Amino acid sequence: MKNKSLVSINDYSKEEQLHILDIAQEFEKNPVQTILQDHVIASLFFEPSTRTRLSFESAVNRLGGKVVGFSEASNTSVKKGESLRDTILTVANYSDLIVMRNPIDGSARFASEISPVPIINAGDGANQHPTQTLLDLYSIRKTQGTLDNLDVAMVGDLKYGRTIHSLVIALCNFNTTFHLVSPVELKLPSSVKMHIKERNLTYHQYTEMDEVLPKVDVLYMTRIQRERFSDPLEYERIKNVYNLHKGMIEDTKDNFRVLHPLPRVNEISVNVDQSPKAYYFEQALNGVFVRQALMTSILGIK
Ligand code: CP
Repeated sequence: MKNKSLVSINDYSKEEQLHILDIAQEFEKNPVQTILQDHVIASLFFEPSTRTRLSFESAVNRLGGKVVGFSEASNTSVKKGESLRDTILTVANYSDLIVMRNPIDGSARFASEISPVPIINAGDGANQHPTQTLLDLYSIRKTQGTLDNLDVAMVGDLKYGRTIHSLVIALCNFNTTFHLVSPVELKLPSSVKMHIKERNLTYHQYTEMDEVLPKVDVLYMTRIQRERFSDPLEYERIKNVYNLHKGMIEDTKDNFRVLHPLPRVNEISVNVDQSPKAYYFEQALNGVFVRQALMTSILGIK
């Protein structure tokens, strides 16, 4: 994986993804080291983030590396009209690896094609979020003991949810049965469903989540994303369509876990947080170890 950009989740084979998860397990046992002390990582966030940016930065800091970058483009020369191309070519002079989040679908692929240093896609518009997927796979394996033959429900904005798109594609390697729950307006795009069909895997589509809960091992909740709607009235109409509360998970399997890439708005009630089946904050912690594994692999240290 040395020098290999990660733009889409299937840029890395199943074996490479599993290798990252194995290295992440080692970092979970020993997350504070000095192995990045000679490295500078650029963190370019053109779109808001809490977990992705801070877990990348925490991962680098705990390994003794340095971070340069920005958390909003308004303080940079982008504001003066500088192109993404010129920004990437410039920042590549100052860093060994660039982590980038950008609101435009395909921007990370473009950056990887012109950058002399590897690019990690930290989310490009509604397209992909492959590092979230690696930490989701890590979290699923850790809670279920396996990635194989699971029933996984995905709920919410399946149309614009980049975490969903990357995760569906990755889970196609593991004989997953998919339970896709969304309003009709936010169904999973056919370009993503195509990956399920190519593997002859099973998917079911629903508009309500209640009947799905007793059947599944993993419930992957997502937010209805205000920022992806061009019509604010449509967002207002469907924003509260799902709300998971404590009573709804009482009759689920013992191994059932609730995951969410976060941030949440109101699709999971706070009263779910105390349940041993709620896993979303541990999931966010796992992002540190997985990102340590990914960066050190790309830099040829692991
Ligand atoms: N999961 C995720 O991408 O969260 P942030 O938007 O806070 O980075």
